[in-house]
Amino acid sequence: MLKERILQIASYIAKNSKVLDIGTDHGYIPLYLLQNKITDKITATDINSKPLLKAKNTLIDYKDLETLKFIKSDGFEQISDLKSYQYIIIAGLGGKTIEIILKNYQDKGYLILNPTNNEASLRKFLFENKFKIEDEKLIFENNIYTIIIKAKRQDKNLKYSKEELILGPILSKKNNKLINEYYYKKGIYYQNIFLKSKKIEHKELAKIYLSNNFK
Ligand SMILES: C[S@@+](CC[C@H](N)C(=O)[O-])C[C@H]1O[C@@H](n2cnc3c(N)ncnc32)[C@H](O)[C@@H]1O
Repeated sequence: MLKERILQIASYIAKNSKVLDIGTDHGYIPLYLLQNKITDKITATDINSKPLLKAKNTLIDYKDLETLKFIKSDGFEQISDLKSYQYIIIAGLGGKTIEIILKNYQDKGYLILNPTNNEASLRKFLFENKFKIEDEKLIFENNIYTIIIKAKRQDKNLKYSKEELILGPILSKKNNKLINEYYYKKGIYYQNIFLKSKKIEHKELAKIYLSNNFK
């Protein structure tokens, strides 16, 4: 269990709000929310039965809690009262899977997203579907960088640039040591890939990541 990541996801959740945790797996995010008395109005879902059983086991101490629900569901498919959730957490899933899940989301709850990959593509999806990115955090834990995005649907169309998709519209403005290191490492990574591939897109990615480092 990555503690800092879960702590930072939980830091976005307002006290006593109603939370839907999509792809709960072991149920550690609901456990953190319950143990820290952030909220007990939680629905934990997973596409597979086994993880859902794991979650029930993790949350055994809370089994009599009426507001804690477990639902086997592919994304939002089996969630009947989707509008009632103030927060939707989709953490530890691939960016593309998160996009597929969000295609069916028309409401205005806060989205707390933690993609394991493809974050630029996910940001593009969010911008193009009027989900404004309100905050982003970069976590470095157990030698892994991971990004958490807080977003919410707006009524108006949103504009964005290629740099914002790659670096993150909020992350790129935070300018701290961890973020600069992350951009630098990504820049060097794409620079090395370009040396072999000679593909212009790799050169461009290296340039975007490295240029941000020296702002
Ligand atoms: C790596 S775990 C993430 C666990 C937890 N959310 C976390 O961040 O610590 C990913 C979980 O997502 C579930 N999952 C994958 N696709 C899903 C979908 N379309 N709908 C619901 N759950 C899904 C998997 O079964 C798995 O248990």
